[in-house]
Amino acid sequence: MKFFLDSANPEQVQEVLRWGLLDGVTTNPSLLAKTGQPYAEVLRRICALVKGPVSAEVVATEGQAMLEQGLRLSELGANIVVKCPATLEGLRATQALARRNVKVNVTLVFSVLQALAAAKCGASYLSLFVGRLEDLGQDGFSVVEQTERVLRDYGFPTQLLVASLRSPAHVLRAAQAGADIATIPFGIFQQMLVHPLTETGLAVFLKDWQASGQKIG
Ligand code: G3P
Repeated sequence: MKFFLDSANPEQVQEVLRWGLLDGVTTNPSLLAKTGQPYAEVLRRICALVKGPVSAEVVATEGQAMLEQGLRLSELGANIVVKCPATLEGLRATQALARRNVKVNVTLVFSVLQALAAAKCGASYLSLFVGRLEDLGQDGFSVVEQTERVLRDYGFPTQLLVASLRSPAHVLRAAQAGADIATIPFGIFQQMLVHPLTETGLAVFLKDWQASGQKIG
């Protein structure tokens, strides 16, 4: 499973890059608005840092306007993937962008049938928001499993990206459900890589080694 960072903060992108674990980045209008910086500048910076795909979302609601915004966004970097919402207009724009060889991530997907429709429209990625389903008491991960099965059964090349993750346990469940990608908020990325037993175990090893008086190299 690939690890994407769900963030529009270039400093966070840089930090995860340093860990050597970054396969891509997803942004959305809320995350970009939170930076307080001009969106084009932020996206250009992130695209220059990351080799993998960087998702940037349209904010129009009508198909033709989404297509125009998508084309504009795709000029910000060779690795830009245009995010279109899983609305009827968003699916129209997805088809039009895919026909122009622009990669599309269909976002705000909550059901297997929305996912199937996005794949049929030529989406390269689809973003299933599991956390928001789980917030409502629904089983988001069973939607991931079913979507994965349908995509593979019909041979769609669309990659299933699990978004709206709330905890390291969600990342694990995304992997177990067969997701191609988990897009992970910075805090959860940090949390899932740190284990208290690793930290305390290492402290004991280092203390014992120091007491032995030996040196390596
Ligand atoms: O990037 C989209 C998604 O991950 C948003 O998550 O926490 O707003 O449901 P959230």
